[in-house]
Amino acid sequence: MRLSLRFVIPLMLVLAAFAYAVVPLVDKLTLSWFIRDLDSRSTLIANTIQEPLEDRLAAGSRANVIAFFAKITQDERLYAIAYCASPNSRPLASRFLPKIIRCDDLDRWEKPGENLLSGDNGLLHVTVRSMGSEAAPDGRLVLVHDMSFVERRSEETKRYLFYFFVGLAAVVSLITVIIAQLSWRGWVQGMRALLRGEGLLRQPELPVKANAPEFRPIARDLQRLMRELESEVLSRDESQLHWTPETLRAILHGELHGEDIIVVSNREPYIHVRHGEQIEVQRPASGLVTALEPIMRACSGTWIAHGSGSADREAVDRHDHVAVPPDKPAYNIRRIWLTPEEEAGYYSGFANEGLWPLCHIAHVRPTFRSSDWAHYVAVNRKFAKAVASEAKTRAPIVLVQDYHFALLPRMIREELPEATVITFWHIPWPNPESFAICPWREEILAGLLGSSILGFHTQFHCNNFVDTVDRFIEARVDRAALTVSLGGKLTAVRRYPISIAWPPEPELLVKDVESCRAQVRARSGLPPEQLIGIGVDRLDYTKGIIERFRAVERLLELKPEWVGRFTFVQIAAPTRASIDEYRNHEAQVIALAAQINARFGPGHAPAIVLKVEHHEAREVYEYYRAAELCFVSSLHDGMNLVTKEFIAARDDNRGVLILSQFTGAAGELPEALIVNPYDADQCAAALHLALTMPQAEQRDRMRLMRGLVREFNVYRWAGRMLLDAATMRQRGRLTEKPGVPAA
Ligand code: F6P
Repeated sequence: MRLSLRFVIPLMLVLAAFAYAVVPLVDKLTLSWFIRDLDSRSTLIANTIQEPLEDRLAAGSRANVIAFFAKITQDERLYAIAYCASPNSRPLASRFLPKIIRCDDLDRWEKPGENLLSGDNGLLHVTVRSMGSEAAPDGRLVLVHDMSFVERRSEETKRYLFYFFVGLAAVVSLITVIIAQLSWRGWVQGMRALLRGEGLLRQPELPVKANAPEFRPIARDLQRLMRELESEVLSRDESQLHWTPETLRAILHGELHGEDIIVVSNREPYIHVRHGEQIEVQRPASGLVTALEPIMRACSGTWIAHGSGSADREAVDRHDHVAVPPDKPAYNIRRIWLTPEEEAGYYSGFANEGLWPLCHIAHVRPTFRSSDWAHYVAVNRKFAKAVASEAKTRAPIVLVQDYHFALLPRMIREELPEATVITFWHIPWPNPESFAICPWREEILAGLLGSSILGFHTQFHCNNFVDTVDRFIEARVDRAALTVSLGGKLTAVRRYPISIAWPPEPELLVKDVESCRAQVRARSGLPPEQLIGIGVDRLDYTKGIIERFRAVERLLELKPEWVGRFTFVQIAAPTRASIDEYRNHEAQVIALAAQINARFGPGHAPAIVLKVEHHEAREVYEYYRAAELCFVSSLHDGMNLVTKEFIAARDDNRGVLILSQFTGAAGELPEALIVNPYDADQCAAALHLALTMPQAEQRDRMRLMRGLVREFNVYRWAGRMLLDAATMRQRGRLTEKPGVPAA
């Protein structure tokens, strides 16, 4: 509106100035027309009355002539009429002849432009016409017209002109305002469309706005500008952002417009377990859960997972939902129920007897059965249907977790073509030769390539995946951009090193280090001054627990001064107990611990304390805080979050981390004592070094490691994926294929 006024007011002023100049011109013009009319009229009257006047003059009756004139001047415009026989005569005139008109001075009224005079009621027009006769050769007729009607008409004309200009101004203004509004709106829309990035590339189907020819010249520049801004924002995010739950929420609401988040994993973050009359809520021992739970607390949304707890069905509503965390609900778990056959085939069989050993170099043979594969396909389909039913929009962001769901990304895309599917593979990806063992390798690769983004912990695993795709399926691989295109659908393969929440939940650090030291030793039956090392794992053969115990044994062999003074405490959460390999492994671990304890014998504090049971995070943190060292000896591990938890627990800057070179974490934490778990001597030396490391060195190493985990925390892990998803969606919009990264 303000904009329209800016147009209209100057327009009005121009029109007023125009009217001011034009009206007097029109007035002058019409006056001259009237004068010309009156001249013609006078000639006509003169011609008309000539004969009757001559007759009356010839009759010599002045009275008769004056009466004749009186009759003629009844015409309202003819004000007066007179006849001069000669310049010296007295005029024979009608009643109102102005005195100024005299027979001896008639010539003056014949000069053009000077035949007007002012009468009582306004202007008078004087015309003189010769009317000679034999008796009076110099006779002249004088006609005086009343011009007041001209003035009246002039006033009327001015009034009409005024109305005309006002009307004209109104119409022109109205048209101007409408045109201005329409074109401004169109321009603004077009500009907005450009700024949103629409129409910058190929969009022939777009209506007017962004494709309008006037925008084309600036479209390219804007596109470049947007890219520059985007990369600037991203690089700033990388280096300067302080990653917190708020950062994550801001990304979700700002960059992703508060889009719906759905997480899919096999393991659920809270398990309801029945103990007699009581229902207990447990947090499973899972790196995946440790990482994703704080993300879901920050972002809300729905977490779809297998309902595996004995009291899970009792805890859900009629939609199979339960709000968690129980004390302060922030998101929903949607539980999926599996039959014992499905669980055996999909989880124990294909995922954990097939893919797990396939992807880990732990020298356990993978077992692939077609019946397991059939369950794996069916359960993936079941979860895809659940994603579709939980999605509140057509384009949700779906975070698919791990090797249990290799087929799910493609199935989700079939259900929700506009979804952005971010898949994270929490375990290593093997080289192509190893992966070739899998009989359904093509199906698995095609399933994963339904993802918009596919994430691994390390670049090495990204490269292995791309090499595998290149080897086994007909897909276009761009190694520079690390993208794979299958059937026109592009997947970005990216490295996102996973981490933990920073700072850790305050309740985990609430007990001071001295109390933790005392209580842990008392609980384990160890003397207060005992030096202890800690290991926290699921009882999985990939974790290198056997190798760890062998290293402790070797230490005590090589450095007997530690016998009775040093104890290694191993917390081992039971896992995948239905699989033979795991049961055997558990038995081996228990036997080896007993054997070593027996060897370094009675009368001393034990060399190894093995606790095969589930521990809640609060208890685990007490052990971390109580120990001199933490030993992570995985034979192969995607990342290993125990490593980062130990660092987070040591706010006293004490404690030494011994870390297997075969974990993803080893690439990030050179301040740890990096070891080869297969080399017992080297590991024993590392244990000795850790136990004798000066406090100042412990502090320096721990500070550096804490700085890294603080900066590269789990909010950054998820934030980077969400930012990449946002960029991808933006590019998808540009190419009119939401959720699909632009080529
Ligand atoms: O390492 C892969 C992984 O999914 C981890 O994320 C998690 O710690 C572990 O396996 C959980 O295994 P499960 O769910 O079989 O107990």
